[in-house]
Amino acid sequence: SGAIMTPSDTRSDDCSDANGAAAARVRIFDTTLRDGEQAPGFSMDRRAKLRMAHALEALGVDIIEAGFPQASPDDFAAVAEIARVLRAPTICGLARCQSGDIDTTARALEPARHSRIHLFLSTSPPHREHKLGMSKNQVIDTAVVAIERARGLCDEVEFSAEDALRTEPDYLAEVFSAAVAAGATTLNAPDTVGYTTPGEIAELFAYLRRHVRDADKVIFSTHCHDDLGMAVANSLAAVSAGARQVECTINGIGERAGNASLEEIVMALRVRAPYFGVGTGIDTRKLYPTSRLLTQITGQAVPRNKAVVGENAFAHESGIHQHGMLKHRGTYEIMRPQDVGIAETRLVLGKHSGRHALRQRLQALGHTPDDAALDDLFVRFKALADKKREVHDEDLEALALGQDPDV
Ligand code: KIV
Ligand code: ZN
Repeated sequence: SGAIMTPSDTRSDDCSDANGAAAARVRIFDTTLRDGEQAPGFSMDRRAKLRMAHALEALGVDIIEAGFPQASPDDFAAVAEIARVLRAPTICGLARCQSGDIDTTARALEPARHSRIHLFLSTSPPHREHKLGMSKNQVIDTAVVAIERARGLCDEVEFSAEDALRTEPDYLAEVFSAAVAAGATTLNAPDTVGYTTPGEIAELFAYLRRHVRDADKVIFSTHCHDDLGMAVANSLAAVSAGARQVECTINGIGERAGNASLEEIVMALRVRAPYFGVGTGIDTRKLYPTSRLLTQITGQAVPRNKAVVGENAFAHESGIHQHGMLKHRGTYEIMRPQDVGIAETRLVLGKHSGRHALRQRLQALGHTPDDAALDDLFVRFKALADKKREVHDEDLEALALGQDPDV
């Protein structure tokens, strides 16, 4: 309703070269089903999780963090079911550095074709002091014992230094070096509290790659929260500095202000492929359907202006923008809606719209007013648009018949 389709064209400035992407690829670790569902209002039961997991597999994510098996019997069952059913992605379960958590998680992951235990332990001064009551050495010893235990129970171990971005970099490098020696193959430096900036996180990743022993044998991972609205920017900065796994969620759901949004990261890496030089294995045409599935399951809509998947992401109302779009879509769109699974660009008719868009929409509805008739319709259209936020096809039909709608 009220939508005007613009002809699709083939722009060559957005790179979709799957082979190039495979050569230098960022692994997409989706935590919608763990960090995402941890947020108030987003909890998912095991059936909902299974539906989402199928969609995430079809989307092409590399790793699915299916849950926190020790958290509840239903979460254990959800992780076990996902591990049994999905074949392509690595299935991951979260565990604290405690033997009970590790053994429970390993049991949940047993049916997986490819399994990963994700261990986490805080390393920052406020967490060591106020949360754990542990010394630096105690933290390292606890992590090492846990990694060594987990290593024998699954295919791979990821270690997260919780609150890494507020941890002393030299100590963090020491923790990570011990984690690698104990058998961790992915090292995650989460910005647990959404505190860092792009410049700072890039510096930290560059530092870690220089100072962690055997850094070239492991994957560095970024996991950013959005408390200051920088989760996506920070994740991308980490990628620029060598991170090759990004932890993110559909629609950016997650603790407090959320996690980094998967669809934004994936499209940034694709649209700006020459800048970043690394791609993902994601089928971007499934981004919008996956986003919609999550909103249906949780009942939580995304904001209209949300990047990539919001209702306005490919909608234009202003006359100047619409006129440009009717001439060439590259004037005001940097990606094609079809590339993210949205059917078409919408030129929404409202008080900011111009004659070109009005004429085109009328024509699409089968009306071919001459210039004088269009002048008259345009005046009445503007009067109606001032009263209504959006002028729909039904309104235009009424205007064309001389039956101006009452508002
Ligand atoms: O934000 C965080 O630190 C986490 C860890 C469990 C990785 O979610
Ligand atoms: Zn988190």
